[in-house]
Amino acid sequence: MTLRSFLFVPGDSEKKLGKGAESGADALILDLEDSVAPDRKVLARNMVAEYLAARPGQTGPELWVRMNPLAEGGLDDLVAVVRAGPAGVMVPKPDGPADLVRISHVLDALERRDGVTAPVRLLPVATETARAPFALSSYADAGLTRLWGMTWGAEDLSSAIGARTNKGPDGTWATTYKVVRSMCLLAAKSAGVEAIETLYADFRNEAGLIADCQEAAREGFTGRIAIHPAQVAAINAAFTPSPEEVAHATRVVAAFNATPGIGVVGLDGKMLDIPHLKQAQRVLGQAAAIAARRGP
Ligand code: COA
Ligand code: MG
Repeated sequence: MTLRSFLFVPGDSEKKLGKGAESGADALILDLEDSVAPDRKVLARNMVAEYLAARPGQTGPELWVRMNPLAEGGLDDLVAVVRAGPAGVMVPKPDGPADLVRISHVLDALERRDGVTAPVRLLPVATETARAPFALSSYADAGLTRLWGMTWGAEDLSSAIGARTNKGPDGTWATTYKVVRSMCLLAAKSAGVEAIETLYADFRNEAGLIADCQEAAREGFTGRIAIHPAQVAAINAAFTPSPEEVAHATRVVAAFNATPGIGVVGLDGKMLDIPHLKQAQRVLGQAAAIAARRGP
């Protein structure tokens, strides 16, 4: 399952819910958490439940929901939305995998109650509390069969630790955020799930977004969060292997196939061994999955 772009849509905005479906995003995240004011939480929950229920088996973007933390209304969010079969739930501010285990048990019960057959998947925002980074390595061994991917966030973490900014003087992430970003990438890979890059807040800066997405894709992230429909096309493009990458990967695989059983080959004067073959196969798998999503 290759999802390149996840567009956040505030769950209490009828207009944005209407626009999200046409954005070209691979998935929407119908938000019940930080983009919804406290006195509109119940309204948003009802609107999102209705929105999901009105789109059974729809062919557009996958519909995900960002719940509130369990202790802050998240349980009521799950009770309201699971019966409409969202593709997945984004989990904000977990301290570690134990929080996702608890949510998984709630989902087990709700899916059984409501006759939901496709298991709801989970995407934690795994770095939003001061404790969370220390638990990143334990996602891999937590038995979380619903875990689809992991993403990270800088805004809540900086607020949690009382930082005045999360950026360095050059405008890139300050050290703490660079560290947790890399740790999240490694944690996702060690758990065998997707690594999803955090949002790019400066939503009018397309050139900056493109460069930032390309760097994330080169590093192994497979998708990114969007906050504005105008960001979707650039994100989709950056996380789709380019024709040149596909052509190169095809040649790498062909070079190995030419001599079955061989572990190392030369191509264009460069040595290629098994890690290169695996990466080429990954690129071709990604490209095929994206083409299959688009349909014939
Ligand atoms: N989803 C769907 N539609 C959106 C959208 C989104 N995330 N963001 C903007 N739009 C719509 C607007 O409603 C507007 O529609 P209109 O042309 O019919 O008036 C159009 O796209 C252009 O929007 P624009 O005027 O450029 O932006 P804005 O000032 O209205 O909104 C934000 C800016 C940041 C408030 C808005 O993009 C947003 O709500 N983003 C999501 C925030 C969020 O969910 N954050 C949670 C994660 S931290
Ligand atoms: Mg937040």
